[in-house]
Amino acid sequence: MHLVTGCAGFIGSKLVDRLLALGHRVVGVDCLTPTYEPEVKLGNLERALAQPGFGFRPDDLVMADLESLLDGVDVVFHLAGQPGVQTSWGAGFADHLERNVMATQRLLEASLSTGVKRVLMASSSSVYGAVKGATPEEAPVRPLSPYGLTKLSTEHLAALYGARGLDVVPLRFFTVYGPRQRPDMAFHRMIKAALGGPAFPLRGDGSQRRSFTFVDDVVDAVVRLADAPGIAGCVLNVGSSTTTALVEVLDLVEHLVGCPVPLDYQGRPPGDPDLTHASVERLREVIGWVPTTSLEDGLAAQVDYQRAQNGWEVRTSRIPSVVSGSLSS
Ligand SMILES: NC(=O)c1ccc[n+]([C@@H]2O[C@H](COP(=O)([O-])OP(=O)(O)OC[C@H]3O[C@@H](n4cnc5c(N)ncnc54)[C@H](O)[C@@H]3O)[C@@H](O)[C@H]2O)c1
Repeated sequence: MHLVTGCAGFIGSKLVDRLLALGHRVVGVDCLTPTYEPEVKLGNLERALAQPGFGFRPDDLVMADLESLLDGVDVVFHLAGQPGVQTSWGAGFADHLERNVMATQRLLEASLSTGVKRVLMASSSSVYGAVKGATPEEAPVRPLSPYGLTKLSTEHLAALYGARGLDVVPLRFFTVYGPRQRPDMAFHRMIKAALGGPAFPLRGDGSQRRSFTFVDDVVDAVVRLADAPGIAGCVLNVGSSTTTALVEVLDLVEHLVGCPVPLDYQGRPPGDPDLTHASVERLREVIGWVPTTSLEDGLAAQVDYQRAQNGWEVRTSRIPSVVSGSLSS
């Protein structure tokens, strides 16, 4: 059986759907943190909750009895966490510390003591900091934000538990996009703005470049890594090897939606790197993975999804009753 932490989030819920489609039994845990509407997170789980192979535990990793949660679990996919660079400054740091570092330490400790076969855990390109070109995994790590620091701490924890015998693999995700993307993320806000929502806050001149990576490609890599041999202790980049500037994405969104994206010009925030750029040679060697979705196709899928989500509030009002009866595994 597989455990997915952060199962109601953007990437976690996509992973759950894929694992169930492949015939796995899955337990998902998520405490629905208020980083965005819990109703949206529960909406992400709607399809999974209807399937007998899925059990949902609405628990907080920082407090739950993790040994019992891990009973019968072979592989842990640890996607729970507090994402977001800007919210990690100031008072927000406490949440990042708790939901990234504390939660991960508890999960690794329990995974070691219960004999879990492998833990795949979400780290981030934010560990690299300011870079000039593509970053292989051995590139220096100098986070520019407290968020990046907490993610780097989780990698150090992975190394410590790895030294004690746990098979644990940190995955450095590079800006992930696609259907269900978090409402605070740039593509989501651009599309929403083009569809008539609030203006998109363009921070700086939009020349920032990122390895934007489609969520289905990320899920593909994560699933295949579950039983890839000989990767215990490896850190792996999971990202697109090409980069795109934010202004280019704005053009693409306008083209796909057929409407301009109204802009709210703002200053460049602290911790926002000019570039993230994945080198994915190691992942290609390990599982032959290369991302296959073009930015245009991936964005089109996200635009379609957000267009169809206009009725969110209406659709999700009935979901809590489904959750209460959903412990099917
Ligand atoms: N989305 C990206 O571009 C990106 C890039 C790099 C790294 N990551 C990392 O990938 C992971 C998933 O990101 P996402 O975009 O899907 O975020 P998300 O916020 O949509 O999902 C994270 C989920 O974890 C849950 N959670 C948080 N703390 C928890 C706790 N203590 N116990 C139980 N559940 C908890 C939240 O309620 C949320 O549903 C995160 O760790 C994030 O830092 C994401």
